[in-house]
Amino acid sequence: MSTMPAIDRDATARRLIDGFLARTTVSRNRHEMAKAVMPGGDTRTVAFHPPYPLTIAEGHGYEMVDVDGNVYIDLLNNYTSLIHGHAHAAINEAVTDQISRGTNFAAAIESQTRLATLLVDRIPSVDKVRFTNSGTEATMNAVRAARAFTGRDLIVKMEGGYHGTYDDFEISVHPALDDAGPVDEPTATFDTRGIPSNTAESVAVVPMNNIPAVEALFGRRGSEIAAVILEPVMGSAGMIPAETAYLQALRDLTTRAGALLIFDEVMSFRLETGGYQQFAGVNPDITTMAKIIGGGFPVGAFGGGDAVMSQFDPTSGKPLWQSGTFNGNAVTTVAGAVAMEHYGADEVARINELGAQLRGGLAEALEERMIPATVTGYGSFAGVHFGVDGVRNYRDAAGSDQDFKRLVHLALLQEGVFAAPRLMFCTSTPMTEATIIDVVGRFGRALDAVRL
Ligand SMILES: Cc1ncc(COP(=O)(O)O)c(C=O)c1O
Repeated sequence: MSTMPAIDRDATARRLIDGFLARTTVSRNRHEMAKAVMPGGDTRTVAFHPPYPLTIAEGHGYEMVDVDGNVYIDLLNNYTSLIHGHAHAAINEAVTDQISRGTNFAAAIESQTRLATLLVDRIPSVDKVRFTNSGTEATMNAVRAARAFTGRDLIVKMEGGYHGTYDDFEISVHPALDDAGPVDEPTATFDTRGIPSNTAESVAVVPMNNIPAVEALFGRRGSEIAAVILEPVMGSAGMIPAETAYLQALRDLTTRAGALLIFDEVMSFRLETGGYQQFAGVNPDITTMAKIIGGGFPVGAFGGGDAVMSQFDPTSGKPLWQSGTFNGNAVTTVAGAVAMEHYGADEVARINELGAQLRGGLAEALEERMIPATVTGYGSFAGVHFGVDGVRNYRDAAGSDQDFKRLVHLALLQEGVFAAPRLMFCTSTPMTEATIIDVVGRFGRALDAVRL
């Protein structure tokens, strides 16, 4: 494998940041104002990047405009949630109609059943769903359902797996490699302060795509395990798909041990009409969803077979409590239903093809410049990891050249491409092949700007 370009990284960072500052003076001013009322001027840790995040004025289709008037092709789509890009006409029309008649009621509304039906019809493993306001709440309730169903406490998660900002899940999401322990038996490390120290007792961590490691854990603690939870494509860790044999092994192990299998399809649901589980041909007991199913509004949902989900039936003896003032609210469910109706099998296949074109184009741009890297992803997802040959788990990705990534992210902004700072990309339905050709050209120019 070739080596990373020998550049003066400090000088390159200074040059790119100077360019950013010069183009974004209004954003900078807005950030100063925000700092007076929000810590660091920020209210969403993942969306922050130095020197400050852009302030966006508006978005249409795949484009976004910042308050300085700079236009960006949006390859992030609010972290994969805006499957139809910004300000989609049919969603706007339906939402405008709904808000003229009220936004939410402490009662049943027809759009809840409409969206629930769309989801149940798409996912064979899901007989019933419940709505939440975020993906975090969806995974939180999925885990509660599994613990209640099995009468056990222990949850198994992947090293690098992200399931939202909830105590049980803020373990080993981004562990420092020095603290992560043995490869086959990772140490559960806290990603943030403020989590009760005994949380790690009810969470075990395994490496993704490593069958012997999870078999060994089941051998040691199988009878304690309530559920295994994983993202079928790890997003936060860098768009790393679970291998089908791995998912099948998890299915077999959990079934044999009387534990449940939870697929967190908050991000990956978009990858097939029935989520990544449809591609893998492996059915989980519980599926969590969010992002695209809200049509651009706050949302979450979890669902599964009747046996597990009937625990929440309020007419049953001792129902599990799951409430939320805005659960299944009118705006979200109307928007979500329209978004899903416009995202049928043809559109899924089309933007997956665009994703394949994007991954191929990114890989080619890197090869042409002899920059060693691995491009990961599936369907409409892509991730770029510099300086590594192959990425199958968190440690492979974490061992890649993170500094170079930060430089390329800044250079991409300069080129009018909006991606996650961790260089994660996704396609959306307003895009065409021409959009991807344009993006790949800009990516190449961004690499050149870093190598100057
Ligand atoms: C796989 C996965 N699960 C859960 C969440 C949490 O969802 P939310 O941000 O809606 O709470 C996310 C968010 O990015 C996610 O990617």
